[in-house]
Formats: sequence, structure tokens, C-alpha cells
Amino acid sequence: MVTLAEPRLLQQSDGPPWDIDAYMRQGGYEAWRKCVKELTRDDIVAELKKSGLRGRGGAGFPTGIKWEKVLNHRVKEHYFVCNAGEHEPGTFKDRYLLKHAPHQLLEGCLIAAYTAQAKASFVYVNHEYQEERENLRKALEQARAKGFLGKNILGSGFDLEIELFEGQGSYVAGEETAMLESMQGRPAMPRQKPPFYPTDFGLYGKPTLVNNVETLCNIPRILRNGAAWFTQVGTEKCPGTMLFSLSGAVNKPGVYEMPMGTPLRRLIEDFGGGVPGGRKVKAAFPGGPAFSMVTADQLDLPMDFDSLKKAGTGLGSAGVIVVDDATCMVAQTLKFSDFFKNESCGQCPPCRMGTLNMATLLAKIERGEGAQKDLDALLQLCGFVKGTGYCTLVTGAAVLVQSSLRLFRQEFDDHIALKRCPSRPATAGVGAGA
Ligand SMILES: Cc1cc2nc3c(=O)[nH]c(=O)nc-3n(C[C@H](O)[C@H](O)[C@H](O)COP(=O)(O)O)c2cc1C
Repeated sequence: MVTLAEPRLLQQSDGPPWDIDAYMRQGGYEAWRKCVKELTRDDIVAELKKSGLRGRGGAGFPTGIKWEKVLNHRVKEHYFVCNAGEHEPGTFKDRYLLKHAPHQLLEGCLIAAYTAQAKASFVYVNHEYQEERENLRKALEQARAKGFLGKNILGSGFDLEIELFEGQGSYVAGEETAMLESMQGRPAMPRQKPPFYPTDFGLYGKPTLVNNVETLCNIPRILRNGAAWFTQVGTEKCPGTMLFSLSGAVNKPGVYEMPMGTPLRRLIEDFGGGVPGGRKVKAAFPGGPAFSMVTADQLDLPMDFDSLKKAGTGLGSAGVIVVDDATCMVAQTLKFSDFFKNESCGQCPPCRMGTLNMATLLAKIERGEGAQKDLDALLQLCGFVKGTGYCTLVTGAAVLVQSSLRLFRQEFDDHIALKRCPSRPATAGVGAGA
């Protein structure tokens, strides 16, 4: 089930998602027209900076500042890419927007490409999102028929086309520099940063504006309603709303929109309908598996980039995963550790070896074959690999293990002492009587 509890981001429409007339009846493409006819590119950037919009792809970087960097770059050949790679476990909010709001995304892309004076523009779409891609393709066709794309759009003298690019289908391929590499026919492997930030050195080595789907869907609404409207909700430093992908041990998983800074409890209990089967929350990943977990006594934490960072975790792209009190945390940690191991692109040795060794040690402990020295080795490994990769994958993998050991150490110790998972019954010959 997918619902939006307090729709503010999503432009309501009374027709199928790709129907441009239905979108325009609700004010769709007014912001686009205003950008081309009334505003200068500097005006657009100034309004975005005033709105305080921060990127929704994970890092929370201020969008207006990023746009300004590309617009004013001394190199004048620019590109624009919308990042719709979305491959993290428990994150599916961009999929929702692609499917239900293709015109709103397209309008955001048009404004971004126009403002950045992009020579070519792309939407990089997760290859599994076939239906979503089809909606976007139909929306593109209809926008072209209205003259919003193509040569000399709206008489501005500016030519603009947007191409769909089928993504590589790996987690790392969503990292912006890996995505740009793969778009040039090379392996989807991240570049070293600094110096290779896309705003300076992007597609074909030229300044490139990369934004997330949700970030771009916010743009038409901000420019149509004004920055002051946008900042009415959320926190001072994190204005607006965020789409939360809620999954795991909840009665009603789905995509929910909440103002930035809303407590996690509201998402889990009010929108998610609480934990099934009368069980309780044991832990939650507020920003997906790459950020520290929080425990049941932290459910009043405000959900925004700064508050979660202050609490020692992060919002990421707001993929919230709830874990109930019947779950073995060693098995849960192993599941995500396996994901990081499988998704490491293998370019950076500490990531390639580190994620493999972490998952191997965790599997050994989970099977009941571990010893205390394996826990020591795990912790040492985490400290060693953190911050070493060209992207943050290996850091996320280490943070996962560290947070699990910090919060649920007893469960790891019990697996070692009993030589089995305590939640599984002892059987003769498998740790019985240990
Ligand atoms: C391993 C990894 C995977 C990522 N995957 C995505 C993704 O699927 N979609 C996305 O928008 N950003 C993803 N990012 C973040 C992007 O690198 C980039 O920060 C973002 O697209 C910028 O857009 P924004 O400023 O609008 O947030 C990922 C980052 C990392 C380290």
C-alpha cells in the first residue's frame, strides 16, 4: 500500500499520471513557463537558495548552491542528469514519484537543464522500473507535443531535449560519479573526490548538474508558490517535507510524506500502524542500512538531516526500516552486510576485502561457530576501513556493524557462548549443552 499522508510535494492530478492536460489543469508547467518567460537564471537560483531546499538523494547538499556552481562555472559546456538509480534496500520513494508524478519530475528536469544551460540532459532510470520508465516516456512525448521540449522552447532560443538512460542496476551505480562513468560506457565505479565532483568534472569531464528525483519534484512547486511557501513547514535548516519509504516490521509499509523534523514515532505508529502481531519496536534504521540504528527509546528523534546527524546517525534518502523484538540482530546485521559485500564494486581494496571479511565473520558468528576473537577482529576491521573508499559504501558497511555491536552486543556474545542463535531451539549435536 502506498499513500501520502499530507500531500504537499505531490501536485494533485485528476487524470492518469502521464496525461499532460490533467497536470496542466492543476497548474502544471506554470513554473516552467515562468522560468522561460519572466525569470532570469540568476532569479531561479536565488529563489532556490532562499527556499533552503536540500538534496533528497542522501547527502542533503543545498540545491541552490549546487545549481549556482554549475551555472557560473568558467567552463561553459554543461550537462544535466536526474538520478533515478534508487537501489538501496528499503528505499522506493523515487519509484513512487516516477510512477505517479512523471510530469512534475519532467518539469523539474526542464527547469534544472535550462538553468544549468545544459548541452544535453538525461534521466538515469533504475532498469527494474519498467512501468515507471514507460510513464515517464509517455509524459515526455506529451510535453514534446506541447512544445515544452525541442528546438527554441517557448520562443526562448534555447534547445532542450531529455533522454532516458537505462541504469546499470547496481547500488554503487547510483553514486553520482559512478553513474556518470557508466553513462560513458565505462564500469560503474566511483571517482575519487576531491577533485572529481560532478559540478566541476562530470559527464565528458564537463560541469554537470546531478539531482535526485525527489529534489527535482520539489522545484516546480517552489518556483510556482515561492520560497516562503516552501519554508512554512520543516525545520529552519531543513525546510519542506520529505518522502519516507517505510518498510520492515510495520502494519502499513509504504511511502509517506512528512514535514522535515517530524518524530520517527509518528511515522511508525500513526502512518505505519505500529508493529504487527502485538510485537514491539526493537530498532529502526532511520536512513537505511548505511547509517546507525536507533533503539525503541529514541523514537521521538526528529527526522531531518541535522537532528539525526547530531544523534549519531543520518537521514540518507529516508528509507526507514523497522525491526521488531522477535528479530535476531546478528542475522539482521548479516543480511545487510551481505548486501554491502555483494554490491561493492571492488575498485577500492579496503572495500572489496573489508566488506567480504565483515560478512564472513558475521556469518560465522551467526552459525554459532564464532569466538570472542572474531568480534574483536570485526571491530578492528570496521575501524580500519571506515572512510577509505572512493564512495561511502564501505563506511556504511562498517557503521552498520559498529552500531549493531554497540547496541546489541549481548546477542553477539550469546551466539558465541551458546554456539547457536539463542532464538533457535538447541538440537542434539548443534551446540546442545554448550
Ligand atoms: C553508494 C551510493 C549510492 C547512491 N545512490 C543514489 C541513488 O540511487 N539516487 C540518488 O539520487 N542518489 C544516490 N546517491 C547520492 C548521489 O551520489 C548524489 O549525492 C545525489 O544524486 C545528488 O542529488 P541531490 O543533491 O538532489 O540529493 C548515492 C550515493 C552513494 C554513495
